[in-house]
Amino acid sequence: MPPILKLTLAAIAATTTLATQAQQAPLKVGLMLPYTGTFAALGDNIEKGFRLYINEQGGKLAGREIQFFKVDDESEPSKATDNVNKLIKRDNVDVIVGTVHSGVALAMARAAKESNTLLIVPNAGADGITGPQCAPNIFRSSFSNWQPGYATGVVAAQKGYKKAMTITWNYAAGTETVKGFTEAFEKAGGKVVKDLTLPFPNVEFQALLTEIAAQKPDVVFAFFAGGGAVKFVKDYDAAGLKKTVPLMGSGFLTDGTLEAQGASAQGLITTLHYADNIETPRNNDFRNKFAVAYRSNPDVYAVQGYDAAQLLAAGLNAVKGDMAKRPAMLAAMNKATIDSPRGRFTLSPQRNPVQDFYIREVKGLYNVNSGIAVKALADPGRGCKG
Ligand code: PHB
Repeated sequence: MPPILKLTLAAIAATTTLATQAQQAPLKVGLMLPYTGTFAALGDNIEKGFRLYINEQGGKLAGREIQFFKVDDESEPSKATDNVNKLIKRDNVDVIVGTVHSGVALAMARAAKESNTLLIVPNAGADGITGPQCAPNIFRSSFSNWQPGYATGVVAAQKGYKKAMTITWNYAAGTETVKGFTEAFEKAGGKVVKDLTLPFPNVEFQALLTEIAAQKPDVVFAFFAGGGAVKFVKDYDAAGLKKTVPLMGSGFLTDGTLEAQGASAQGLITTLHYADNIETPRNNDFRNKFAVAYRSNPDVYAVQGYDAAQLLAAGLNAVKGDMAKRPAMLAAMNKATIDSPRGRFTLSPQRNPVQDFYIREVKGLYNVNSGIAVKALADPGRGCKG
């Protein structure tokens, strides 16, 4: 054999071995989620959903074992950059999955964009992530804040309410959700007469409830989630308002919270991209498997975590686990149809789910679907270049 050919064959063999090794190395997944604080239960269910999908695939994605690295972000924006850099710089992860809180997620998106680390957001709705701060390596498996706000505004107007007050925490998720609500509600002829806020994650609602009682709007729109939502719904009822001023919200107000809210939540109407009783084989199968694995019922957060894993799998499968083939992997994620328990969804050009929003009513321990608020609702993706 001529020496040059021998050399070439040796080089090909070496490259093949390297590629195989690279494929066999575990995929490093960084989970940055709240494991403490008002959103702790949300982070926990996102991780459970994410792991459930991977376990269904035999513990591997595209043939690669998964190695987890975890950071508790405490829903604390001031620590977010340091926290995400633990995953990017110290642990050198291949992909980050996180987080719940919009302010924390915005800092994560900045770091992911700068370092070109793949980021999948399994909850935080910050509009900027799939708007002005968008990037080709940043995806969302959940929603933009604008979406559930807008869908609830549509439903509130359909119910004939004319005069609304809003109440939320004063941070990106609260203000952007209220903006979405106001856009739809006022487009349909309603008027938001007052926006009430308190700092995140405060739960001293009394003064604001007194103001609602004094103004007597036709409806109150609220964005709260997790522990804060539990307290708000109970306080609203205890103040006697539940009987006099209808309370609506994006579905986070009553998701993953119903056991703790008890009678105070019964009958509340919300909208969200998930409802507990979507009667499809896909949702029933997901709910059964989740209940068997964790001895608890899934919620929207579990679904979003599960779908973050599905989205990652769509990318990895397209390149047989070889993340060095970045453009092909991102292209596959962009055009994926995710077979979610919520119903199938695709991604907008800004990489945010285009999805149906359900009208839900609290009955017992479930958010029961009572129709579609808006079909295939796409975030406008304002300000995203790239
Ligand atoms: C957010 O901060 O974006 C956020 C937090 C909790 C939710 C929804 C959105 O349930």
